[in-house]
Amino acid sequence: MTATLVARGLEKSYPTPDGELRILHGVDFALERGSALAITGPSGAGKSTLLYLLGALDTPTRGTVTLQGEDPHAMNPTQQAAFRNRHVGFVFQDHHLLPQCTVLENVLIPTLAGAGATAEMEARARKLLERVGLSARLDHLPAKLSGGERQRVAVCRALIHQPTLLLADEPTGNLDRASADAVGTLLLELHREQNTILLCVTHSLELANRFPRKFELRDGHLIEV
Ligand SMILES: Nc1ncnc2c1ncn2[C@@H]1O[C@H](COP(=O)(O)OP(=O)(O)O)[C@@H](O)[C@H]1O
Ligand SMILES: [Mg+2]
Repeated sequence: MTATLVARGLEKSYPTPDGELRILHGVDFALERGSALAITGPSGAGKSTLLYLLGALDTPTRGTVTLQGEDPHAMNPTQQAAFRNRHVGFVFQDHHLLPQCTVLENVLIPTLAGAGATAEMEARARKLLERVGLSARLDHLPAKLSGGERQRVAVCRALIHQPTLLLADEPTGNLDRASADAVGTLLLELHREQNTILLCVTHSLELANRFPRKFELRDGHLIEV
């Protein structure tokens, strides 16, 4: 079987007045559908940068990313947006929910780029929210929710399109211990149920230890630990 997500010689540098600032020095891996990885590493190591490259939110300086044989960085911006919408779910440290939209509306936001919030999509959003224990909160605004609840909504939003790739960037970084545990459990369970590839950046060793595979980003390289 060919691997689903493949990174080859992935490099990222930023130009600075003092020359190139090299962040990623050549990241290589091949992951099958259903893989789940925790990624740790010091602050500034390039963990977010790596997720952005994999999710086609940023462009590599060198190297390639392919998901099911498709290279998003070789696409034009329209194709790339469609690729992201179809394949990539992102959960950030901050939930990034729209404050003026209800819980249900927030989960449906990614659908607005496509056919819109069809009855099928709405049913799926309701099901996901039920799955994360928020059925009674569909019409609430994010301000009425706890931090952990907001992050559960953000997870549902990331999963609305049944992404191939679920990328989480310190998803529990702003949560108290109990909420962090709950969100970590949810990510792992939903990843299994939906058969996504899950890459989760975290500073929590406790969360990292719950993943089948652990990697560390250090000196620009990704190493399995
Ligand atoms: N647009 C940019 N221009 C210059 N440097 C950047 C830019 N974006 C990120 N960096 C630098 O790249 C490094 C890696 O950042 P990041 O991926 O956010 O690290 P991490 O998520 O591991 O903390 C940091 O030193 C950061 O300052
Ligand atoms: Mg980061």
